[in-house]
Amino acid sequence: MRRTHTCGEIRSADIGKKVCLQGWVRFSRDHGGVEFIDLADAYGITQLVFDPEDISSGADKNSISLALKGFTRESVVSVDGVVRKRVEGTDDPKNKTGEVEVLITKAEVLNRSNSPPFELGDQKESVLPGEETRLRYRYLDLRRTEMIEALRFRHKFISAARGYLEKNGFVEVETPMLTKSTPEGARDYIVPSRVHPGTFYALPQSPQLFKQMLMIGSMDRYYQIARCFRDEDSRADRQPEFTQLDIEMSFVDMKDIQDTIEGLLVHVWKAIYGKKLETPFMRISFEDAMNKYGSDKPDLRYDLPMIHITNIVKDAPYEIFQKVLSAGGIITGFNVKKEMAGDKIGRNEIDRLIDFVKKNGLGGMTWMRATKDSLDSNIVKYFTPDVLSKLKKEMDVKEGDLLLLLAGPRKRVLETGGQLRKKLAEDLELFDKGTFKFAWLIDCPMFEIDPASGKKDAFHHPFVHPTTSLDIANVGGASFDLIMNGSELGSGSQRIHDPEVQRQIFRMLGISEEKIGTDFGFFLEALGYGAPPHGGIALGVDRLVSILLNRETIRDVIAFPKNKKGQSLLDGSPQKVDDDKLEELQILSIAIDDIDIEDIK
Ligand code: AMO
Repeated sequence: MRRTHTCGEIRSADIGKKVCLQGWVRFSRDHGGVEFIDLADAYGITQLVFDPEDISSGADKNSISLALKGFTRESVVSVDGVVRKRVEGTDDPKNKTGEVEVLITKAEVLNRSNSPPFELGDQKESVLPGEETRLRYRYLDLRRTEMIEALRFRHKFISAARGYLEKNGFVEVETPMLTKSTPEGARDYIVPSRVHPGTFYALPQSPQLFKQMLMIGSMDRYYQIARCFRDEDSRADRQPEFTQLDIEMSFVDMKDIQDTIEGLLVHVWKAIYGKKLETPFMRISFEDAMNKYGSDKPDLRYDLPMIHITNIVKDAPYEIFQKVLSAGGIITGFNVKKEMAGDKIGRNEIDRLIDFVKKNGLGGMTWMRATKDSLDSNIVKYFTPDVLSKLKKEMDVKEGDLLLLLAGPRKRVLETGGQLRKKLAEDLELFDKGTFKFAWLIDCPMFEIDPASGKKDAFHHPFVHPTTSLDIANVGGASFDLIMNGSELGSGSQRIHDPEVQRQIFRMLGISEEKIGTDFGFFLEALGYGAPPHGGIALGVDRLVSILLNRETIRDVIAFPKNKKGQSLLDGSPQKVDDDKLEELQILSIAIDDIDIEDIK
């Protein structure tokens, strides 16, 4: 290797050394005949200098000068030179190599670059092109420091997690990619089989059933950095193809699994930040999370709970509240304390918050301001002194506090309350962006009703062990989520290991006997051969890394992500397939325009 140093490596201690650097020309400028070049690679940037009046012995001025003509932006070049101190006053303290520069003695273009479609380097977001351009030329985008840092951080995270799991007896096992559907609540990506025409594999939504079968196969402690595929709408924290840190363990209960993850994160924290992560994480029940914070993944970095006041104000002759109550609704509120700058929220801002609440599905919002002795608002007249004093007590009201009250159907109030809480926290800067507050969401239900179809669905997935008898209204499930800063980072559960219970759950989900047989027969059969009690969890690697790096979307921590519409702008997928390939697969290709609806009928 000719290269002696990377572009991030040279320091003052190297002054006087002969070096060879290879990298990309990020920037060059001519200062009165002296040429300065920023040479970049994955490790940093080093300043190169060519001064025709100040040539080291042995250097050929003309051939350097000729070679430098080919030093166009992003061309890849090789340079020999001598390290020297920068001229007094031109140090760049933001750059680790900023005290030195390399005086060129030999220059060579290794490969020219076409003019890049956008500027690279350490620019702020504002001068970056739109994300679509960055994704189209991702290999160039990856040269930016921010992207290099993200991929290195991701690697460090995975490597530390691997280290912990291996030390604790976990074995990495690869599970199949061409498989049968695993129900995780999304649509499958399907892959046609050529050998068995008319049949399809599904790409795994998760390795769920295979990791459970590994436990039946006595593996005991499994992990995998597993690629998962889900055909669902892309969002900032979702990709069609993403990575889970997937874990399964035999002979454990929920606490054992949670302890393992806490141990893993403590280890990762130490490896990455050199700091101790406080454990155990706080635990919050699903019901409390919904009631207090209107979310199953509340941000717990700040304390702004909803305080339910239905019982306190139920007799007040205030028409809006009475209407809501007679329709079975609830009344709740936030106390935006003076310490949170509640007293600084003016009338215009309150109107904006009312609009926000309306956009989020409620009819409006009532508010009150706490004065020295009382509460001030145009609705206070509807409340007796006794009600007002109970309200003040319940909501812990002090002078300068602002009360925001929401009334309406329970579910909508809780959801809108959750959104309003988030907005208030952001507007009032109630949290520190560098704080990471983990918690376990526990005591989850086994089932939920899909609001669109009215159908009973599994709250997590159908393999969760029930915690109550199955014949009561609200069956509990042994599942839990790892949450942090308002995001769900992972979910896990104790699994069902008795085939009869598993069959019963499928039935409760309305799956026909025939479908149970075709979709899950193999798995029920496996459970019948001495399945041990077992459980596990999967963490979303992309989500965790993007939050730790404070990136807006998980696309920023994935080397080659899909865009918001699920396309890869880099290679142009998904693509049409040639007719002969379809023929081979015995798949008929018909342009939608050619279909006669009458024929289909
Ligand atoms: P779940 O479906 O909750 O559980 O997924 C676990 C975690 O994976 C991440 N995640 C995603 N990340 C990016 N894009 C997506 N489309 C996406 N979907 C999910 C989230 C989520 O918390 N088999 C179970 C786990 C188990 O029970 O062991 C499962 O997959 O961070």
